[in-house]
Amino acid sequence: MAHYFSERPEGARAGTASGSVTLVLPDLHLRLATGGGMFSPGRIDPGTRVLLETVPPPPATGDLLDLGCGYGPIALTMAMRAPQATVWAVDVNRAALELCAANATAHGLYKVRSVHADEVPPDVRFAAIWSNPAIRIGKPALHAMLTRWLDRLAPGGTAHLVVQKHLGSDSLQRWLAGQGHPAERVASRSSYRILKVEAKVESR
Ligand SMILES: C[S@@+](CC[C@H](N)C(=O)[O-])C[C@H]1O[C@@H](n2cnc3c(N)ncnc32)[C@H](O)[C@@H]1O
Repeated sequence: MAHYFSERPEGARAGTASGSVTLVLPDLHLRLATGGGMFSPGRIDPGTRVLLETVPPPPATGDLLDLGCGYGPIALTMAMRAPQATVWAVDVNRAALELCAANATAHGLYKVRSVHADEVPPDVRFAAIWSNPAIRIGKPALHAMLTRWLDRLAPGGTAHLVVQKHLGSDSLQRWLAGQGHPAERVASRSSYRILKVEAKVESR
């Protein structure tokens, strides 16, 4: 069975919107096209909302990353809050990437780069990473994905991840620390935990 985190999920014609959601935050209001075969097409995911309501402002310049962008609520919020920065919106789901790109264009956010995870130039380092990571891909794949991108934090850069408690936020926090990425819980709302993760000690 194809999942929303497949490269070509079932029921998704790449880039074809089948609905829309409105993201309303204290500082912005965005209407986003969504489609079948991707994560949370009917509403802004509550975890994503907790992340966007609690995360500190991103660095104003440099390269920023939304890891697992879906149709783009996190990437577009980063771009609205840091209009001079380049925002890399990365996913493996091509249909989601096309909708994320279309949503960025519709809001005039021309510094959003919606690209497949394998297409980010290898020398790019991120001043900040925000993510509602794909926990459901399973622990080995999740760990590989996080290691791959957290190791590309710029010196002094930080990541903010939203993870549900019952999906393993506490064990993920311990695992991250064991990988050399200090991690602390900086916010907690209903079942959601926001983890702040730092660059590895040697890259700070
Ligand atoms: C929990 S969803 C979050 C989507 C979106 N950021 C939001 O908040 O609505 C996680 C996303 O990660 C993507 N994903 C899964 N595996 C990935 C990988 N190895 N690299 C990058 N993205 C991945 C999925 O396709 C999915 O769109």
